[in-house]
This record gives sequence, C-alpha cells and structure tokens, in this order.
Amino acid sequence: MSGQAVKRIGVLTGGGDCPGLNAVIRAVVKTAVNELGMTVFGITDGFEGLVRDGRCVYELTPDSVRGLLPRGGTILGASNRGNPFAFPATRKGRTVTVDKSRTVMNRFKALGLDALVVIGGDGSLNIAHEFALRGMPVVGVPKTIDNDLSATDYTFGFNTAVRTATEAIDKLHTTAESHHRVMALEVMGRDAGWIALSAGVAGGADVILIPEIPYRIGRVCERIAARHDAGRTFSIVVVAEGARPASGRAVYADAAGKRLGGIGHKVAHDIARKSGHETRVTVLGHLQRGGSPSAFDRILASRFGAAAARLAVERGFDRMVCLHGQNIESVPLADAVGKLKTVPPDGDLVRTARDLGISFGD
Ligand code: F6P
Repeated sequence: MSGQAVKRIGVLTGGGDCPGLNAVIRAVVKTAVNELGMTVFGITDGFEGLVRDGRCVYELTPDSVRGLLPRGGTILGASNRGNPFAFPATRKGRTVTVDKSRTVMNRFKALGLDALVVIGGDGSLNIAHEFALRGMPVVGVPKTIDNDLSATDYTFGFNTAVRTATEAIDKLHTTAESHHRVMALEVMGRDAGWIALSAGVAGGADVILIPEIPYRIGRVCERIAARHDAGRTFSIVVVAEGARPASGRAVYADAAGKRLGGIGHKVAHDIARKSGHETRVTVLGHLQRGGSPSAFDRILASRFGAAAARLAVERGFDRMVCLHGQNIESVPLADAVGKLKTVPPDGDLVRTARDLGISFGD
C-alpha cells in the first residue's frame, strides 16, 4: 500500500485488562524498533491518555519492555471509562458525557504519530474504527478473556482465564467430595459462555449454565439427583455470569444493569431450596483477569503484536490482526466489531459436553 512511510507509532491498551497485554506491547516494540526501524510511544490508560493533558505519552524501547513476557496486567494502564466520544465530565455538580474526539485527533497529530496500535476488545476496537473513519491510521489487536470477538478464532487472555477457572474447579472437586456438597462456581464471560463451557469441560463439571442455553432449575436438580442415585454425593455446577433461567433474566451486580454478577448465588440458593442439598458458591471474579499469561497466550500475544507492527508499516489501516486456523491474518475493523461470537448451542463443544454427561439445565 502506498503513502507516507510509517516511522512513529503509538500503542495503547483499552478496556479491561487481561493476561498477555504486556506480551503484545513487547512484541510491537521489539518488531517495530529492531526490525522495522520505527519509534514507538506508549499511551497511558487507553484513549484517556490522548484526552488528558500531561505526561500520558512516553517512548517505549526494547530496553523498557525487557522482562514483560510473563507479566500480567498492562504497563500502560487500561480504562473502560474513557470513551472519547462520550467522555465523562462534571458540569454543575452532575456527571455528563462530552465528545472529546477532536481533542484526540488533534493530540494524535501534535504527537507526530503515523499510526496507532489499539489493543482492545469490542468497545475499544469500535472506538478505534470510529477514529479510522475520521482519518486516523489505526491498527487493532483483539484482546479479551471472554473470547467473544467474531473475526478471530481466539483472543489472547482467554486461554489463561480458562486455565484459572479449571484450576478452581479442580480445587472445588476435592472439598465438594469431602463434604458431599453441591459447589456452584460463577465465572466471567459477559454475554458469551466460552469460559464456563471450556473450563467446565476441562474440569469435568456436572452442570454448565451459559447465556446461550437458558436453564430450568428443575432440570439442574434432576442431574444432581441422578448423580446421587448413582452413588456420587457431590456435584460441580459452573455458571457463566451471563446465564439466565428460561423464565427469568440475567442478574446484574449494579443497579444500572451494566455489570453482570450474582447469578451463581441465585443458582446455589435455588438448588439448595429445591433439592435440599447443602450448596456453596464461589465467585471467581477478577482472578480470571490477573496473573501471568499461559504459554498459549504468550505465543498468540507475541504473534499478534509482531503482526500489528508489520501491518502498520504496510499501512494496513482500519484493520485488525486475527487468528484464522493456524495463521495470523487481518480483517477490516468494520467486520470485527459489533458482532459478538457466542457459543453455538448445537456446536461441537456443547455436543461433546452432552456426550460426556454434562447437563446444561435445558
Ligand atoms: O470483558 C472482560 C470482563 O472481565 C467480563 O468478563 C466481565 O463481565 C467484565 O469484564 C468485568 O468488568 P469490570 O472489570 O469493569 O468489572
């Protein structure tokens, strides 16, 4: 692709954090500086770093990213409150949202950047696409533990979250067995059941409840009763935070109905009431977002980061790097955002789970 040579690029991490962000940053910097002769600038706290004045932008060198590969979180900081198109501000004591997109465009120009690498989930990549439509040269990298982006087979961070949830199921098994209890484990994933399904299969759960297959508590209790009849005196129920009963709604942790959370307690309470079994609940929460990335995520993050630097130098703007099969490719950002990849209820993993005797409560 023709155009002015790409020499100075910015990189930011938007939305919630996840394991592998630092590995992407490291790969972008090493590839861009060592292989492509570019200069890289880190922007702090997602797009907020381009809205706020002050020391929010600094140069990243191969030296400054040394040791980052195994480190969780993001050295750049992340924010899911800093959408420049609806930026929170206080007016007459009230919180309102204002459009700061021009500030960001001007700041980007003032920094003399030739491209911006945005590492983010659906929300941040949507914002990146909006800026691309206004002429900003952006390249996207897909991140989220939820694995719910439609244009890539996997996002980095998901594998580590599944590992963490699987370890939790393994631990719950031993205590559940000792006390003859039902253990409910609530995991993240937003409106997609990928973490619950994958960890549930990997950990040998008895019941998995996901948003894509609304459940009936009676069916869940039937599965638990069948286990008891067969001499198994404990059961493991993995509950995606977005799961909902066929006759009800998803459960939110906040009054505004934005943050999912609490369905694990409801499921545990309903099982205890209906079946009489002693039931306990564990909410895994942000443990799934923390810690060192798995080997799979380190490799995927490194491939994404290197590919993003190459895509920038080739001026492949308004595109996102992605994994298709074994290959790293790129797709237009417009195709990558706004369409969530949820679990197909008739897909192979659900079918395998059913074949293994796992109930979805339907
Ligand atoms: O999208 C990642 C995720 O961890 C979801 O699984 C979860 O619903 C949400 O973010 C939690 O967000 P926050 O960190 O703002 O509570």
